[in-house]
Amino acid sequence: MSADTHRRYEVLRERLRTRPGVAPSILSADFLRLGVQIAEAEAAGAVAIHVDVMDGRFVPNISIGLPVAGAVRRATDLAVEAHLMIVEPERYAEAFAQAGADIVTVHVEATTHLNRLLTAIREAGAVPGVTLNPATPLVMLEEVLPLVGLVLVMSVNPGFGGQRYLPESTARVAALAALRAERGLDFIIEVDGGITAATIGPVVGAGSDLLVAGSAMYNANGSVAANMERLRDGFG
Ligand code: DX5
Ligand code: ZN
Repeated sequence: MSADTHRRYEVLRERLRTRPGVAPSILSADFLRLGVQIAEAEAAGAVAIHVDVMDGRFVPNISIGLPVAGAVRRATDLAVEAHLMIVEPERYAEAFAQAGADIVTVHVEATTHLNRLLTAIREAGAVPGVTLNPATPLVMLEEVLPLVGLVLVMSVNPGFGGQRYLPESTARVAALAALRAERGLDFIIEVDGGITAATIGPVVGAGSDLLVAGSAMYNANGSVAANMERLRDGFG
C-alpha cells in the first residue's frame, strides 16, 4: 500500500473510533465548482470524499470516471473513496488506485473472482472495499471480510442520488456490526443512499461509522456547512 494512502486511511479509521463521520458524495456537487465544493465539505468536517462511478451498465446512469477521481485526489488530503458501480470492475479497479483513490470499493454482484480482485486492489496500493445491493444477502461477502478495510451497505438501489432510504438497511447494518465484533475484525462500516438529518440517527445507532451524503450535503436549501451541521444534529 502506498505510504500516503496508508496514512490517509489510518487517519480516517482513527477519527471514526471517536465519532461517526460524514463522507460527502460529489455526485450532487456543482461540477463547475468541484474544488470549492470539496474544500467547503472539508472545512465543515467531512472525513472522506465519496466518488460515485457509474457506467450505464451495472446501474442505469453514467456519472464520472478516472480523470475526476484524479482531480479529487489533488483537491484534498482526506481519504478518497471510489465507489465503482460498473460491470467487470476488475478491468478498472487498479487504474482507480493509480489515479489516487485511497479506497476502491467494488460490488460483490459485479465480479466473479471477488477474492482475486480485492487482493489486486491492495497490491495496486489502495485499501479494498466491498459493497452489496439491498437485495443481496450479507452472507455473500462473509468470506472476504478479512481482506477489506471497508464494507459499504447500500441503502438504496444504486444509480441515482436523492432516493429514499430503504428502512430494512438498518437491520443489515446491525447484523454486519455484530459479525465484525464476533470475528474480531476492524473494517469501517459505511452506509450509502438516502442519508438525511431525518434518517441518519438509527443508521448510526445500528453501528455504522461512515455515512455517505450526496443530496443532503449539496443542495439549494443551505450551505455545505449548514447541511453538515443538520446531519450532525441528526445523530447527536
Ligand atoms: C447511489 C450512490 C450514492 C448517492 C448518494 O447510487 O452510490 O453515493 O450519490 O446520494 P444521496 O445521498 O442523495 O442518496
Ligand atoms: Zn456511492
